[in-house]
Amino acid sequence: MQIFARLGLPLLALVSASIAHAETPIAVSVQADKPGAVIDRQIFGQFAEHLGQGIYGGIWVGKDSKIPNVRGIRSDVVAALRAIHVPNVRWPGGCFADEYHWRWGIGPQDKRRQTLNASWGNVIEPNSFGTDEYFDFLEQIGADAYVSVNIGSGSPEEAADWLEYMTADKPTTLAKERAANGHPAPYKVKFLGLGNENWGCGGAMSADHYVEEMKRFSHYSRNLNSDQEKGPDKMKRLAVGWDSGKSDYTEEVMKAWKDKVWSWDIDGLSLHNYVVGGWPPHLKSLGFDENEYAIALEEAFRMDGMLIKQSGIMDKYDPAKKVALAVDEWGAWLAPNPGSNPGFLQQQNSLRDAILASVNLNIFMRHADRVKMANIAQMINVLQSMILTDGPRMVLTPTYHVYRLYLPFQDATSVPVKLEGGDYKFQALTTPRLDAVAARDKAGKLWLAVTNIDPNRPAEIAVAVQGARAGTVAGQVLTAAKVGAVNTFDAPNTVAPKPISGTVSNGTAHLALPPKSVAVVALN
Ligand code: AHR
Repeated sequence: MQIFARLGLPLLALVSASIAHAETPIAVSVQADKPGAVIDRQIFGQFAEHLGQGIYGGIWVGKDSKIPNVRGIRSDVVAALRAIHVPNVRWPGGCFADEYHWRWGIGPQDKRRQTLNASWGNVIEPNSFGTDEYFDFLEQIGADAYVSVNIGSGSPEEAADWLEYMTADKPTTLAKERAANGHPAPYKVKFLGLGNENWGCGGAMSADHYVEEMKRFSHYSRNLNSDQEKGPDKMKRLAVGWDSGKSDYTEEVMKAWKDKVWSWDIDGLSLHNYVVGGWPPHLKSLGFDENEYAIALEEAFRMDGMLIKQSGIMDKYDPAKKVALAVDEWGAWLAPNPGSNPGFLQQQNSLRDAILASVNLNIFMRHADRVKMANIAQMINVLQSMILTDGPRMVLTPTYHVYRLYLPFQDATSVPVKLEGGDYKFQALTTPRLDAVAARDKAGKLWLAVTNIDPNRPAEIAVAVQGARAGTVAGQVLTAAKVGAVNTFDAPNTVAPKPISGTVSNGTAHLALPPKSVAVVALN
């Protein structure tokens, strides 16, 4: 007060000016009395392909490595992934899966065939990480298997043999070979991908041709783990869907499914969609400006329209929504790090990417009645990853922290949210200013996730819960000084969650959201 008096400013005028400019809080209505679909935890799945350092260096360091490991799998990465309760890991690709031959990756390490990774940089693929190492990794992190069989260059017979090796619980020759390789008990293959992008790197097949191939693979890729097949965890088969713009795969697969005969079936259909800002990917992962931020965020919101369109096609043949939509490749595909092998798809990961991840996860959750799985591309060291490694060093990316913040949404029941926050505009680009989802977890607790997309404006929200009165509001928020802020090996906590809490008056919760932030709060 004294300083204003010394400056000669009339205090009253200053106070009323700030009141005049203060924004009315944005009303958010959480409709807790209208529960929707259950958010399948598989929406928080990951994708790990034999690509660059996604597997080698990122997961597999070998038993003799100085990097702490359990049977060759690095322990720091396992601990970090356990903490985000990864539900499934899609493997071995991607385009790599379209020419993967599983036999090359089993048995004694020194006998494994050295091949070339023709899809990704023509580097030597040592096949040191194969089927048994994959299942060991899954067991260590506590995730389900999502194995993609090779429809591109493989045969139904090869796929059937692989399934027999993985799942046979009777003493067949391949089950005995698995036992000799150290695993007498059958593995559980929860999800089976019937091909990958077969319109492109998976054989450039027409939709009709793919459907005929897919039916054969669906029938002959039998799961021979009888305990699994008897129970609720029966293996689910996922066909290839949307083909980068034309949608004919979705239409043809669903048309065939509607008239299917007893010998084949599918439980899901895939959709791949990346934020690229134009091909070839050129948005920068470091040192980008607000224009590139807005381009990426605007593109991220387009996922919603894509899901509406694909679901619409599926609804024609499957109004009961028996076939799930699996967005099993998504994320930001940016320009490769300068000086890196362009075939390794290495990029840094900033607060922008975390915000983009929250927007996409929110969209998947709003479509929880149809979208039952999603896999961010890719888990470690490739594209929009959770984790970056460099030799013995490891750093958690801002995107990782979103997955951690979103843990309460795994298998929670979605609850509609209404909000009119206006727009964030940058030149000709427009996105919603705020984006929010809510859900009730299995213990009955209500959670709200709100993303403030605007990099410049804070937002105050007033949250009313229909059918209840809020008592307290508290949780965590992810933000940083700039949307381009990143975590590095030397400064690993530049973008890390911090506590956030609000106030409650008359049953309405008030929360102040920083610009460019992702907040997840419990409404007690
Ligand atoms: O994730 C990188 C590649 O993107 C995958 O191998 C392929 O399926 C997609 O085109």
